[in-house]
Order: sequence, then C-alpha cells, then structure tokens
Amino acid sequence: MRGTGAGFGRLARWYRALEFAAFGRDLERARFEYLGRLSGCRNILLLGEGDGRCAARLAEAAQGARILCVDSSPGMIERASRRIAGSEAAGRVEFLCADARSLRPAPGSFDGVATLFFLDCLDDRGVASVVAQTGAALAPGSSWLFADFRVPAGGLARLRARAWLAVLYAFFRAATGLGTSRLPRSEEILGEAGWTRVASRDFQGGLVRSAVFTRPPG
Ligand SMILES: C[S@@+](CC[C@H](N)C(=O)[O-])C[C@H]1O[C@@H](n2cnc3c(N)ncnc32)[C@H](O)[C@@H]1O
Repeated sequence: MRGTGAGFGRLARWYRALEFAAFGRDLERARFEYLGRLSGCRNILLLGEGDGRCAARLAEAAQGARILCVDSSPGMIERASRRIAGSEAAGRVEFLCADARSLRPAPGSFDGVATLFFLDCLDDRGVASVVAQTGAALAPGSSWLFADFRVPAGGLARLRARAWLAVLYAFFRAATGLGTSRLPRSEEILGEAGWTRVASRDFQGGLVRSAVFTRPPG
C-alpha cells in the first residue's frame, strides 16, 4: 500500500474547519468520548495524532502520563507541537514523525493507546501490522481507544455512509495522496487479535463510532 500520510501536511491548516463544515462537532465528540478511560495511564501511545487536538485533550485527561504522538506528516507534527508548546503538558508530550506501520516499540512500554480517525488511512494489512506491533508493546490490562468511520448494517444509514465514504476517500486521495480507498476491517482485526470492545457510542446515524477495547491479561 502506498501513501504514508505525509501529504496530510497540505491539509493541516484547514483540517479542523473542513471537519466542522462536514460533520459539525460530532467527530470531536467521538474523538474525546472515552479519553477519560486513559486517565490513570503512565505511558500513552497516540498514533496518527493529527493537528494536536487529541494530544492536548489527552494530556488534560491523563495528567500523570507521558504521551508519545506518532504521525507521518511533518506538517501535522509541526502544527501539533505548536499547539502543545508552552502548555503545562509540553514536558510530557513527545512527537515522532514516522510511519506507524514500521514502529516496533519494546514490550510493556505503553499502558494505553489511541487510534482516532487514523486506522481508516490504512488497508487491512496496515491495520493488522499496527495492531500486532502495538499490541505487543502494551502492558497487560491496557485499553485501546478507537474512533473511526463505519458502515451501518442496513437501511438509509448504510446508503448515506457509503456515499460519504466515497466522497471522503476521493477527497483524501486527491488532497493527501492517501493510498487506500476503502475502510479497513479495523474492529474485526482488533477482535481477531484478542481485543474485546467494552464500550462504544455511535454518532452521525452510525457513520462514526467511538469505542474502547481491552484484552485479557496474558
Ligand atoms: C484523518 S487524520 C486524523 C488525525 C487525528 N487523529 C484526528 O482525530 O483528527 C489521520 C492522521 O494520520 C496520519 N497518518 C496517516 N497515515 C499514517 C501512517 N502510516 N503513520 C503515521 N501517521 C499516519 C496523517 O498524517 C494524519 O495526521
């Protein structure tokens, strides 16, 4: 799969405005819905961080945590670091410009992870690789926060979701060089890797889901 997300830099400035124009505050709600579940964490991995909004809110929610933000777009990293610089959290939040698919964190190095509107930038193989490598790095009892687009099971909501996804993938492919054009089976892949969904909330008539996954120790 080509497309590492580096092209997202072109959108960094406009990303928030575009999101609000298309979906109002619903993506923001989905993104932040379960951040409190990581409040007791010490080391959090935030993959596909974006423009710094997730890092800022997560740093507030988890005040004793160090947060490693990984994003393959230098433009997004620059915007995110500017948002965090000068805040109380600046000393606890680190940025790494890298392709999340090639990360190999040491076992037990994190006790929480968040992928918020990130896994849908990958294909099934990319998601499987991130889930395997990240899963191996998480301490027992860790939570995985997830937010992404999805296609509801039937009815008008399904048609609407398909139409939105066609528009969104066409737009992101053209604007960022994104190398995929369909949603990966992210929740199924997490399930196959032993993760169980323990909480979830849908937004936009089921087009967007925010969820928490956990995995039994061992
Ligand atoms: C749709 S944006 C979502 C950003 C943020 N998490 C949010 O909720 O707004 C996807 C982000 O993932 C990054 N990205 C895409 N592919 C990536 C990859 N393979 N490795 C790391 N970051 C990637 C992009 O640069 C972009 O910042």
